[in-house]
Amino acid sequence: MFSISKQTDHIGAEISGIDLSQPFPPEAADALRQAFVDHSVLAIRDQKLDAPAFLNATRLFGEPLRQHLKQFNLPECPDVATISNQEKTKEGKINVRGVSWHTDHSFQPEPPKATALYAVSLPTKGGDTEWAHMGAAYDALPAPLRTEVDALEAVHAYTESRVPPNLTERIAAGEDDASDGVVHPLIRTHPENGRKSIYLNPLRVRRFRGMTPEHCAELIERIVAHATQPEFVYTHRWRAGDMVIWDNRCCIHKANADYDFEELRLLYRIIIQGDTPR
Ligand code: SIN
Repeated sequence: MFSISKQTDHIGAEISGIDLSQPFPPEAADALRQAFVDHSVLAIRDQKLDAPAFLNATRLFGEPLRQHLKQFNLPECPDVATISNQEKTKEGKINVRGVSWHTDHSFQPEPPKATALYAVSLPTKGGDTEWAHMGAAYDALPAPLRTEVDALEAVHAYTESRVPPNLTERIAAGEDDASDGVVHPLIRTHPENGRKSIYLNPLRVRRFRGMTPEHCAELIERIVAHATQPEFVYTHRWRAGDMVIWDNRCCIHKANADYDFEELRLLYRIIIQGDTPR
């Protein structure tokens, strides 16, 4: 059986002694899924995966979904997308995605439960990814703030005023477009362990129902400042052969754009079917 090494008090575990390109005994698959629920971010070291093998490995955690930014999907394996520092805006400027705190695809009625990345090419220094545990952050909310957020509902949408100006264009909108926004509770309960966490996407929340835009903006800033304190954060220093998978239901994440852009940073990305946040 593989080994699990916890990385912080609240979030992140390193998995070693496993080869995801090989068939897996059912009890090991169950243990890996349990580790995912317990630690929220798994960094699985020393893999050798091409795109189809990566896709196959993620099936241990659920059903992969086609990603909506179709221009990044690999033609030969379209459920696997790329994320890289070679992407350009319409104006030809480098566009590094994911550099501020967010949770993936919250503008969809059933956002993906998990996202997985596999390192294809890494800069020699920097380019870490960070995750904050929103369950631990919820537990530690000061009582008055917890009372304020407990019953709030948030409208999430792909485009709205908080989105950075270089928002990546979708080349084809799908039924998941939800241009009017979808409503999710701000506090959701994890369907597998029953734990409450803050379900906030600072980039995609258009507003909280019944609240002025100024108050919304102030509340979002306050929650993000609280949730991203070092005690709730795991920082992953990428190594060749890493596959990382995380639980979008209880984490927010961001990539650090602090490296030499002359060096290629290229990751494969897969998202896994989720359910309606409740
Ligand atoms: C993302 O999924 O938001 C990007 C993560 C990364 O590039 O490390």
